[in-house]
Amino acid sequence: MTQDAFTTEGYACRVVDLKKEYVLKSETVRALRGVTFDVPTGDYVAIMGPSGSGKSTLLNLLGCLDKPSSGSLWLGHDDVAKMSDDQLADIRSQRIGFVFQAYNLIQQLTVVENIQVPLFYQGKPLTAAQKNRSIELAKMVGLGDRLGHRPTQLSGGQQQRVAIARSLVNDPYFILADEPTGNLDSRTTEEILQTFERLNNEGRTVILVTHEDEVSKRAKRVVRLKDGRLQWDKINTQQVRDEAAKYAIDNMPVEV
Ligand SMILES: Nc1ncnc2c1ncn2[C@@H]1O[C@H](COP(=O)(O)OP(=O)(O)OP(=O)(O)O)[C@@H](O)[C@H]1O
Ligand SMILES: [Mg+2]
Repeated sequence: MTQDAFTTEGYACRVVDLKKEYVLKSETVRALRGVTFDVPTGDYVAIMGPSGSGKSTLLNLLGCLDKPSSGSLWLGHDDVAKMSDDQLADIRSQRIGFVFQAYNLIQQLTVVENIQVPLFYQGKPLTAAQKNRSIELAKMVGLGDRLGHRPTQLSGGQQQRVAIARSLVNDPYFILADEPTGNLDSRTTEEILQTFERLNNEGRTVILVTHEDEVSKRAKRVVRLKDGRLQWDKINTQQVRDEAAKYAIDNMPVEV
């Protein structure tokens, strides 16, 4: 019997027996106890699980915000588990797109400038191509007519769409989103889910953490953690996804 050689080709990331322990004075918290899964490029994964099951820990590792205690995390051709803090910082600023529950936009900056923020961190003047790209991204998330607006002049959904455009400015391995609809009403949640769906249909890889079944049913796949382990990993059929979308739209509150 031949065993296929390990490859990273075609994967946004590969996670192999990933463990994370937090060593405190009095105890060691085993937040991840050996998690293994793959995310093919173009996948759309919802990570679920009870409070304390390790979701944010996993997302922080995927986002190179923290280092695992052991195991491997392959992003592109590199096992980032073996990297130095400086190398991790480079990957984080150049190849990871984050979307947070609280948008984290800079109030003094316009829509386009907020989208460009990850580029400023790279410490080089922006090129014409980068400037054009940030305008294209604003258009892609439906904010082409709001380029000069500041966050206070936008709705919650529009602000989160700025954050999504910002997450894409570096052409990341994937968009990582921690409870991206946690602050939003059902209509705005729908707006954001449709944005993720459209970006995913265009080939972007999306990984999000959610507590909500209605949100996880819209993904292509659901990974559930329990006590720092992968409890199950299942594919949502197109029928499940379509029905969840239809349910959301049919049950939308009437606009007043
Ligand atoms: N910096 C830290 N130091 C020590 N323990 C931590 C730290 N961060 C998380 N933990 C512990 O690791 C475990 C997993 O936490 P994590 O934040 O990943 O859970 P979660 O699934 O995101 O939960 P929630 O749904 O409440 O956000 C918990 O027991 C938590 O108390
Ligand atoms: Mg969490």
